[in-house]
Amino acid sequence: MKKLIAANWKMNKSVEESVSFINEFKKIIKNEKNADVVICPPFTALATLSKELKNSKIKLGAQNMHFEDAGAFTGEISPLMLKDMECEYVILGHSERREIFNESDFLINKKIIAALKHGLKLILCIGENIEQKQSGKTNEVIENQLKNCLKNIDKIQMEKITIAYEPIWAISRGNPNHKAATKEDAEEGHKFIRNVVENMFDKNISKNTRIIYGGSVKPENAKELLSMPNIDGGLVGNASLNAKSFAEIVKAAK
Ligand code: PGA
Repeated sequence: MKKLIAANWKMNKSVEESVSFINEFKKIIKNEKNADVVICPPFTALATLSKELKNSKIKLGAQNMHFEDAGAFTGEISPLMLKDMECEYVILGHSERREIFNESDFLINKKIIAALKHGLKLILCIGENIEQKQSGKTNEVIENQLKNCLKNIDKIQMEKITIAYEPIWAISRGNPNHKAATKEDAEEGHKFIRNVVENMFDKNISKNTRIIYGGSVKPENAKELLSMPNIDGGLVGNASLNAKSFAEIVKAAK
C-alpha cells in the first residue's frame, strides 16, 4: 500500500510562512511519488495554499471542522467551507481536540459522518494517554475509540478513512527531543487496530485501511517506523514545520 505522510502544523505559521514552506518543500521533493503527501495548515492558510498546490500532487487538509453545514456556531468552520477551500482531507479526533476542547467520541462520530457526506477524506486520530498505558488499558481504549467513532460507518465509507495511531505520551508538544514510541510498540498498536477493523468490517477492509503512526516522527526515526509491516505512513507535527525535515520523512517512506 502506498504510504501517506501528513503534516499537522497545529497552530503554527502565518500565510507567508506557509507559502515559503511549500515553495521550499516542492523544490526538495520534486516528483517524489513514493508517498501521498497531505499538508494540514491552520484554517487561515487554506485558501492561499489551495492555490499554491493547484498543479501539484500534494494534497490539502484541515485540522478540524464542525459537523453542521452552516448556522449559528460562532468560531466554527463547516465541511462545506473546507470543500470551498478545495480541501481533500480533514483530521478529526486529534488528542489535543479531545483533551483541550473536550471532544468526545460521540462528537467525533458526528463529524466523521458529516465529512463523509461531503466527500472529504479523513484522518481519524486515536490513542491512549500515559495513565491508560501504565494501567494496561491501551487495547481497551483504542478499541472503544474505534467502535464509538466509527459507529454507523459502512464498508464503502471506510475507503475514505485513514486511522492515525497517536499514543498521547509520544506526541512531542513541540519538543524536538521527545521520544517516539519504539517501532515495536507502534507496530503492536497498529496490528491491534487492524484486528479491530477486521472484526468490525472484514479482512479486505482491514488490509486496505491505511493506519498511520503519529507521535514524534522525525527524520531520525522515520525509516525504522515506516518499515514496520502495519505502519502505512505518518502524521507529523513538530518535524513537519520545517520543509527539509518533512521532506526527509517523505523520502523515508519507500
Ligand atoms: P508530533 O505531533 O509529531 O509533534 O509529535 C504529532 C501530532 O500530534 O499529530
